[in-house]
Amino acid sequence: GIVVSSLMKTTGMVTVDPGFTNTASCSSDITYIDGDAGILRYRGYSIDQLASGSNFLEVAYLLIHGELPDSATLDAFVDRVNRHTFVHEDFRTFMGTFPRDGHPMAVLASGINALSTFYPESLDPHDPETVELATVLLLAKTRTITSYLHRRRAGEPLLYPDYSRGYVDDFLRMTFARPYMEYQADPVVVDALDKLLILHADHEQNCSTSTVRMVGSSNANLYASVAAGVNALSGPLHGGANESVLTMLQQIQGSDVDVDSFMTKVKNKEDGVRLMGFGHRVYKNYDPRAAIVKESAHAVLESLGKNDQLLDIAMGLEEIALNDDYFIERKLYPNVDFYTGLIYKAMGFAPAMFTPLFALGRMPGWIAQWREMQNDPETKIGRPRQIYTGATERDYVPLDQR
Ligand code: ACO
Repeated sequence: GIVVSSLMKTTGMVTVDPGFTNTASCSSDITYIDGDAGILRYRGYSIDQLASGSNFLEVAYLLIHGELPDSATLDAFVDRVNRHTFVHEDFRTFMGTFPRDGHPMAVLASGINALSTFYPESLDPHDPETVELATVLLLAKTRTITSYLHRRRAGEPLLYPDYSRGYVDDFLRMTFARPYMEYQADPVVVDALDKLLILHADHEQNCSTSTVRMVGSSNANLYASVAAGVNALSGPLHGGANESVLTMLQQIQGSDVDVDSFMTKVKNKEDGVRLMGFGHRVYKNYDPRAAIVKESAHAVLESLGKNDQLLDIAMGLEEIALNDDYFIERKLYPNVDFYTGLIYKAMGFAPAMFTPLFALGRMPGWIAQWREMQNDPETKIGRPRQIYTGATERDYVPLDQR
């Protein structure tokens, strides 16, 4: 339906819309989705063209600043991000204080929140230069932190960034290289990870982005807002789905339950089991990101010479779902998370790292949405209404009389 914005400003009428399925919280120039046609565009550019022709930092610039940069502007932007990729030595110590097997999404959220304490000069949400500094710091340091999340889990020393390498290339080196050893990333892997980051870079008002805007609407700083987004992303119904998909596939592989009986369980909604990586609030035809990811999964597995049986299980599940009335009637198709885990696994990431990789990719979108909100004169503090259904007035009863 069409929302008449003047209605939203009245205080006389309150609509109840659980999950905000029909409520727009803002207007935005950033990302366009046509869920029925399976279209996704950033700033008007199709996701297919960006995934095949662009790179992550250029897409980040596009999302945040609204236009594709010319080459001098892009060079300056990349250079500035590069120059901020080191983290404060005390920050490395801070990262070391978390239990090694604690979930990396919790460490990432805490780490991003803590950045505000290390860079107090970048906190003013109303000063454009300060906001640009916080933007660059977040793009630069989230990459370093994400590589640390992997190395900490593995008990390996943290590596310093290398300015001479590209954003994705150096991320893979910082994550996987042995200390003091030459590291050469497979170009197919670099390209695939760059594409995945682009595909995750924004998705308009999803749960985590709405959270970033909600927190930011109180004028909380960018780090506090984005850290809240990381926490929202961690749930299995949102970004956490990529890890849950792999767990699901491994459970099928390791148990006596074959694919058909698993699907029967899903359709009977036994124990609330869902086919993870399937379904989307907005895409009701197909998720254009999933098509690109599936192609990429084949390319990466082939290049790395890995023959993962989990890919066959995933394709088997998809095949059944595409021909099954339960999924057809409910318009449930693979979403971006269905095949990404298989790629990350082939690259050498543990399942717990899958959602932090999503967060790394989503960073430009969160930042762009937060900045757009701060600059929008229509912005008000987010404050939904409720319909009260509790007790009417009661008299307090002292403890000894209860
Ligand atoms: N497996 C089985 N049934 C499903 C699934 C699924 N993955 N997704 C939805 N359904 C069913 C629901 O049970 C419901 O059935 P009903 O009409 O008989 O009650 C119907 O489809 C509609 O589902 P809702 O939960 O109302 O859809 P909603 O838009 O609220 O949820 C969501 C979307 C959360 C993505 C859901 O499809 C889901 O839980 N998917 C699995 C988790 C997942 O992959 N999340 C990642 C999403 S993409 C992202 O965040 C990046």
